[in-house]
Amino acid sequence: MIRIAIQNKGRLSDESTELLNHAGVFFDNAKRKYLVKSRSFPAEVLYLRDDDIPATVESGAAQLGIVGLNEVAESGADVKIVKRLGFGYCRLCLAIPKNEEYTGPEYFNGKRVATSYPKVLGRYFDRMGIKATIMFISGSVEITPSAGMADAIFDIVSSGGTLVSNGLKEVETVMESEAVLIANNELSAEDTELADELLARIESVAISRDKKYILMNIPTDRLQEAIKILPAMRSPTVIPLAAEGWCSLHSVVAAGELWEKVRLLKQIGAEGILVLNVDKIIL
Ligand code: PRP
Ligand code: ZN
Repeated sequence: MIRIAIQNKGRLSDESTELLNHAGVFFDNAKRKYLVKSRSFPAEVLYLRDDDIPATVESGAAQLGIVGLNEVAESGADVKIVKRLGFGYCRLCLAIPKNEEYTGPEYFNGKRVATSYPKVLGRYFDRMGIKATIMFISGSVEITPSAGMADAIFDIVSSGGTLVSNGLKEVETVMESEAVLIANNELSAEDTELADELLARIESVAISRDKKYILMNIPTDRLQEAIKILPAMRSPTVIPLAAEGWCSLHSVVAAGELWEKVRLLKQIGAEGILVLNVDKIIL
């Protein structure tokens, strides 16, 4: 049985649950419970505050965790970063009142900067040779400048909406973050096996994300051109049609490229184009 720590509420919580479900780890999403056993995989899910996840995995109280890279950096926990998960993108930024003139990082000399990420910020200021006062505050960092408690903030920015609604502007990005899968450094052989199985499934989920299955009829004499437009994992599947001079071509494309490929395929005579969702790609 392997234990996976995920965020109990907040920006990563829903997507972490969804990722585990896609990987075949189903569990009752009873967030009031602290520890929930999976019905379908030898795993239990431990719900925690995001800031507590790195240390919990470092100690071995959970073998795996899903958490923001920002929290891993701030905690300084000695854990293995197994995989970037491609969701929960955000950045850690310095922001100042929007009417202030920003002159560069030296602007922060002598300033009071409020943050929930004092270690990441301290390392940045040290690197830049800046002497500022770092004020630790665990929440509502964005209100501190207008409340006269600080001159600037260092916080997570995702859409930027929070900064705008508090009259602040982003002036430096110190770190880019996303959700990562982390692991304890000393997993037992048995836990390693379960972790590897889970990782393989998560990788399949990541590869399948945003992929579409496309099939169409194409004149046989345009087949080579179509294959150039649609390279597949190995090569596209081609099936002859009963109608002379036509075949059916099947492949997988990234959703972001779909419409451009469809346009090119129509130009060379593709007809009856069908696009289907892909549930899983297993490599
Ligand atoms: C972060 C951050 C801001 C907000 C920024 O808080 O502290 O309040 O998100 O996002 P935006 O740029 O999209 O407006 P979060 O919701 O993660 O909660 P927490 O700080 O309490 O963990
Ligand atoms: Zn938090």
